Amino acid sequence: MDAVTRIERSLTDAINLCTAPETPPRLAAAMRHAVFPRGARVRPRLCLAVAAACGDSDPTLTDAAAAAIELLHCASLVHDDLPCFDDAALRRGRKSVHRAFGEPIALLAGDAMIVLAFEILARKGAPSPARLPPLLLIIAQAVGVPAGIAAGQAWECEPRVDLACYQRAKTGALFAAATMAGAASVGRDGESWRGLGLAIGEAYQIADDIRDLVGNEMELGKPVGQDAAHHRPNAAAELGLAGAVARLRSLTEEAIAIIPPCPGAADLAAIIQSEARRLVPRDLARQAA
Ligand code: IPE
Ligand code: IPE
Ligand code: MG
Ligand code: MG
Repeated sequence: MDAVTRIERSLTDAINLCTAPETPPRLAAAMRHAVFPRGARVRPRLCLAVAAACGDSDPTLTDAAAAAIELLHCASLVHDDLPCFDDAALRRGRKSVHRAFGEPIALLAGDAMIVLAFEILARKGAPSPARLPPLLLIIAQAVGVPAGIAAGQAWECEPRVDLACYQRAKTGALFAAATMAGAASVGRDGESWRGLGLAIGEAYQIADDIRDLVGNEMELGKPVGQDAAHHRPNAAAELGLAGAVARLRSLTEEAIAIIPPCPGAADLAAIIQSEARRLVPRDLARQAA
């Protein structure tokens, strides 16, 4: 089964857990709206790619980790789009969750998805009791405080922000969780996979900043120009377009160079290289040059 099929199947199983006769229908619909149809699914694909490079010995646990990470990502987007954060009307080409279902349901849907992420790990991790605690820790740290998504978003409420620290918490932490959880789910030491995830996450956030600066809403399915509108740090604004593209390229090279030893290292390097090419389309690279 290919990676995307595995991811969609485990996300569907997870969301179905919340659809019972006693579920408030609008809350169930809002959670489904937040998860389907899919975005790039880049974090769960990275998690599966690392597990595959390490032998894919426990696909049930790996799939649960990948789905948990994507649920947490989708929850972060629901909350990020709320009027108290970015006040975005559009996500993945259609109404953001609060525009479709109202703010109270959007807040609750995000909360419920965060809880669901840990519920599916508890359910699917039961046969692998030794692997579950490190996996839970990796994933919890990526979304919490001091250095996960909650901290990253909170930096936007501070008068002074260090760009690298802000982006590492907001975006890098969950990418690090993806590589670390991919390894930990097959019984490897997660810690040695942190650097790879952080490098990919930084590259991904730079690409997102470039798109925010020069992309268009129709193509991206979300508003652009948001960083300037909200006075948020933006790597492409700080480094210039050419500087940001150069930084993205050097981060990709760095990422490939620090892939820990594993049987599928060459395949993993090829995946990272092709994802990086997807992040900077040729016309943009030309524009930057
Ligand atoms: C958007 O993430 C937020 C960032 C941290 C850049 P994605 O670009 O992965 O969004 P989806 O999941 O594909 O919609
Ligand atoms: C969202 O960051 C990342 C989260 C951790 C929620 P942004 O606000 O920069 O991303 P978009 O542009 O809304 O996807
Ligand atoms: Mg934001
Ligand atoms: Mg936003």
